Amino acid sequence: MITNEKPQSPRNRSRKDGELALFGGSPVRTQPLPLEFPGIHYMDEEEIEAASRVLRARSPFRYYGVAPLGEVEEFEKEFAAHLGLPYAVAVTSGTGALHTALSALGVGPGQEIIVPAYMWVSVVAAVVNLGAIPVLVDIDHTFGIDPDLLPHRITPRTRGIIAVHMSGAPINIKPIAKIAREHGLFLLEDCAQANGASVDGQKVGTFGDMAVFSFQMNKNMTSGEGGCVVTRTERLYRRAVASHDLGYARDDQGRLMVEDPDLCVWGRGYRLDELRGALLRVQLRKLPKIVQNMHKSKYRIRQALETLPGIKLRRIVDCSGDTGAFLITTYESPTIAQNVNHALRAEGITTYPQGLSNIVMTNWGLHLYYNIVSLVSRRSVDNAGFPWNLVENAGSEKRYEKGTCPVADGLFEQSIIMSIPSCLTPEDEADVIQAFTKVMNHYARGT
Ligand SMILES: Cc1ncc(COP(=O)(O)O)c(C=O)c1O
Repeated sequence: MITNEKPQSPRNRSRKDGELALFGGSPVRTQPLPLEFPGIHYMDEEEIEAASRVLRARSPFRYYGVAPLGEVEEFEKEFAAHLGLPYAVAVTSGTGALHTALSALGVGPGQEIIVPAYMWVSVVAAVVNLGAIPVLVDIDHTFGIDPDLLPHRITPRTRGIIAVHMSGAPINIKPIAKIAREHGLFLLEDCAQANGASVDGQKVGTFGDMAVFSFQMNKNMTSGEGGCVVTRTERLYRRAVASHDLGYARDDQGRLMVEDPDLCVWGRGYRLDELRGALLRVQLRKLPKIVQNMHKSKYRIRQALETLPGIKLRRIVDCSGDTGAFLITTYESPTIAQNVNHALRAEGITTYPQGLSNIVMTNWGLHLYYNIVSLVSRRSVDNAGFPWNLVENAGSEKRYEKGTCPVADGLFEQSIIMSIPSCLTPEDEADVIQAFTKVMNHYARGT
């Protein structure tokens, strides 16, 4: 029988079978991978019950009401206990937590605050809003502050360091904490992306003077929006309470404390409501399971990737303390990273349109210092140039354009970031491994 189909040589057919989907072969999978949102995959009747409890009591405000349940207060106690710290202040967002913590620490004009090249826009926003100057420090292969470079960024104006545990894993926090102590600087840990991570059994958030967490929807546990400030110092706790509320700390009966000038600051109105307090209590109980699942999936994939040619894995200071929320792989050149990424995406290693995963890191938005337009161009908070042109800030270096942190620049161009959802099945994991194997073997053969 004569057909219109072109004859396929056995060679063509076999090329198609193992061929990259990018070049017409069959993709490893056609179903998108699940969305990131770790805590969301675990939301069920327990959260519904918690929210209903608050609504039934008709008391959504934390400090008083017709029948207040004390959900936020209980959450603060439970979150502090989870970290082994005495104090926690729940707030409305991670950004609010940064403002609250920096206010408690007394940050203001004339001060330089060291921030890493890889972070989130909220970190620099909090510093700039308070009138201080962010000073960038480059990162190393942990994707956190390089402790060897840190001392070179310290000047007589430096007041503190914000260390950010990025993309689910702890950074090299111990030497950073040591340098902070030696130079009399405060250390604020931003644990928004690494809730549940640890180094040598010690949880992130406990290495510095204060720490902040976010419970926004992409984070390891969530109430949609929310945040927390933690500390082991009573004074900083009281100042954080004052800052997040009306400007005054509260005594054990909830009365405003107006006598001590050190505890009187200007309030920001970041109080958390009882609905979210109740949700967070449930999510905190689920956090170990969420982290365990992401960790298990990530390390199954990482182990398989270790044997592949041409891939370098992110350096993790303590693998057992990695929450597993993200996988970062690095390639020999920006072109290879782009090619591998295109090829992996063609194999079906993507997520739904409302999520962002498996991208070259230059596309990772406001996590990269040079993508933060307002920072690079030193946009002001007011019409008069605050805080850049304040006389108090005159002597500070204010460099933020691409090239300021060359190691970060190289890593961003040569690396791919993938989220590891908390609900990956063994089949999903196997698909990710198969896609990487197919793509990397293809490029190793030079075909
Ligand atoms: C490192 C880091 N810090 C702070 C924040 C701010 O948290 P939120 O979105 O709750 O304001 C985020 C949020 O993505 C973050 O990733």
